[in-house]
Amino acid sequence: ASTLGAAAAESGRYFGAAVAAGRLGDSQYTTILDREFNMVTPENEMKWDSTERSRNSFSFGSADQIVNHARSHNQRLRGHTLVWHSQLPGWVSSIGDANTLRSVMNNHINQLMGHWKGQIYAWDVVNEAFADGGSGQLRSSVFRDRLGTGFIEEAFRTARAADPAAKLCYNDYNIEDWNAAKTQSVYRLVQDFKTRGVPIDCVGLQAHFGSGGPPSTFQTTLSSFAALGVDVQLTELDIAQASSNAYTNTVRACMNVARCTGITTWGVRDSDSWRSGENPLLFDRSGNKKPAYNATLTALNGT
Ligand code: G3I
Repeated sequence: ASTLGAAAAESGRYFGAAVAAGRLGDSQYTTILDREFNMVTPENEMKWDSTERSRNSFSFGSADQIVNHARSHNQRLRGHTLVWHSQLPGWVSSIGDANTLRSVMNNHINQLMGHWKGQIYAWDVVNEAFADGGSGQLRSSVFRDRLGTGFIEEAFRTARAADPAAKLCYNDYNIEDWNAAKTQSVYRLVQDFKTRGVPIDCVGLQAHFGSGGPPSTFQTTLSSFAALGVDVQLTELDIAQASSNAYTNTVRACMNVARCTGITTWGVRDSDSWRSGENPLLFDRSGNKKPAYNATLTALNGT
């Protein structure tokens, strides 16, 4: 196949991009988006600070722009993200009472998942809950500090009831290296959920890589999570300097794992990237395909 999305689809996978509502008026951007990508993640528009700036007052406008664009171009959607310590309004961070916070968290999940019920392929239910480094602990956040470590389980149970058709994912960064303590912590969480029947369907590995690309253990990580009975997805892929080799290694690792169901790059052109100075994406600032694009397409085509 001659586009990323079509090539991925030949093996039952998708190829997606993070999309910013503010760029949908840029025809160069949408031309590439609609030609190459068949999954869309709103880059910021579904986050708490965009959707519930004050308590129980919800605004879905900018996210709906992306959802409507995706739906009219046969692109599926990844919801990003329901429970995250960052881009969280001050009114949430300052809630001191656990019961209040619990009902605020569950209401947020119910309102967002309800608004787009049946329209979201997968939700990042909880994002980046683990601390960096080897502590094995959840990072400090209003959710962990007020509700305890059980907030993750509560969020997933609420999410399952809110939209039973959506796949429910745990999403994090720096969990690509099988030898990293953080990876093992997330692995144990998923293993525990599967053992106890807590609903979880997928693990998103963000895959923000340095110029060397994925760690040598990357495929082992993907297949190890998959062996627990969850899908895995590369949810925010970008690679400093975007060497063809690094992209090839990344895509091949996914292609080699049956339950690696899709790859999303965190933006379209280098100029759209949060790491714009590192030129980490597949299209340059003029919208031209970079060498890494061809490498990616070749790897998706299995050649
Ligand atoms: O919308 C405001 C705008 O009104 C204001 O004038 C401008 C001034 O700074 O800020 C704009 O908001 C920015 C927003 O992006 C939209 O452009 C925020 O400051 C900026 O912090 C925010 O950055 C986003 C970042 O998440 C925030 O944590 C990036 O775009 C987004 O790519 C990034 O994405 C995250 C994933 O959600 C989770 N994983 C890591 C990834 C990279 O950090």
